[in-house]
Amino acid sequence: MPGTELFGDEERKEVMDVLETGVLFRYNHDAQRKGHWKAKDFEAEVAKFTGAKHALAVSSGSTAVSTMLAACGVGYGDHVIVPPFTFIATIESVLMAGAIPVFAEIDETLCLSAEGIRKAITPQTKAVLLVHMCGAAADLDGILAVCKDPGSGPGSIMLIEDTAQALGATYKGKHLGLYGKMGSFSFDFFKINTCGEGGVVITNDDQLYTTAEHFSDHGHSHEGDNRGMEPHYILGTNYRIGEINAAIGLAQARKLPYILSQQRKHKAIIQQRLSKIPGLTFRKQCDDAGDSATFFHLFFPSETVARAANKAMIEAGVGGAYWYDNMYHYIKQWNQLKDLKMPFRTVAHELGLPQDLKTLKFPKSDAVLSRLISFNIRVTWTESELNAYLDKVEGAVRKAMEGVGV
Ligand SMILES: Cc1ncc(COP(=O)(O)O)c(C=O)c1O
Repeated sequence: MPGTELFGDEERKEVMDVLETGVLFRYNHDAQRKGHWKAKDFEAEVAKFTGAKHALAVSSGSTAVSTMLAACGVGYGDHVIVPPFTFIATIESVLMAGAIPVFAEIDETLCLSAEGIRKAITPQTKAVLLVHMCGAAADLDGILAVCKDPGSGPGSIMLIEDTAQALGATYKGKHLGLYGKMGSFSFDFFKINTCGEGGVVITNDDQLYTTAEHFSDHGHSHEGDNRGMEPHYILGTNYRIGEINAAIGLAQARKLPYILSQQRKHKAIIQQRLSKIPGLTFRKQCDDAGDSATFFHLFFPSETVARAANKAMIEAGVGGAYWYDNMYHYIKQWNQLKDLKMPFRTVAHELGLPQDLKTLKFPKSDAVLSRLISFNIRVTWTESELNAYLDKVEGAVRKAMEGVGV
């Protein structure tokens, strides 16, 4: 949780600015706010860092995905290709939009593969909701090629990037979230930057930005300075961020360059050390230098070894994430989705899903995730803390490998 490692005077100062004026609302109240516009400043900071023309702060990474889908016109019955390995929010947003999730396989990039996407295309496919999982890029060249030329499917397919986990990551020098129509980040408590709860949508498209901005505030057009008299061109909802959350996000976003440099430095040390272990491999990187280095990922030769390593690491006090069994991140455990258990009926209930999620198999994704264990990279590790940590990880990995005769 890198962001939370660095809470300090900077966050306190930004929050106090807001509390001193009492203007917790992001719009209007110009006279009372004494020049403090934290949501706007937060947006400007994210736009500057990522190089996006527009950034829109909203209430969460989940509402950021919903805002993107709405702005891109994804709705009733549209098929949206999604990964089976993501946080469930990605899928929920598709269902909430009245669209239909269609699952495709991932590969050792931990993201949707171009081949997986191609196989999942239907005549109704409108978009690919690409998740750059665990802080690094998917195979964007391959995926963009499929979206542009889907073969036997419909005309070109929209790429929308759920970049919730990959703030700061780049592909060929360009920030993730700028390859598709829109990209979204989460600033929840577990991310590289956190503001408690918050999200940001980025785009270079003026029209999509305007629609997203209006949609996230009940259709308010924000024209003039009299909220009650603003024209409303569309309906929307309240996905606004509050000024307190934005204030924290602003302070955190300013720390991003430092966080990234520390994480990347630590990742290099980790990789150098663990690459000496025979049989162990790392995540396939499409652009290693652009990895935000929030995690390091170890691939074991088989599920049996991975399970043995997971056990040994927990015993050594350095347990990581064995996603294959994780309730939140892999479709294998998402029984609530397989039964479409929601408190209300959606378009998906009416039209049905094109895939039978109870019987659908993901042999490629299973082969990836059953062998994978991931670990958080800390920003604040000292060299000796990192070395002590690595001693334990290495010991556990070697014990597991030897135990099963690798
Ligand atoms: C890929 C992905 N999408 C969306 C979200 C939702 O973000 P939030 O928790 O800010 O709503 C998350 C959160 O973990 C995520 O990992």
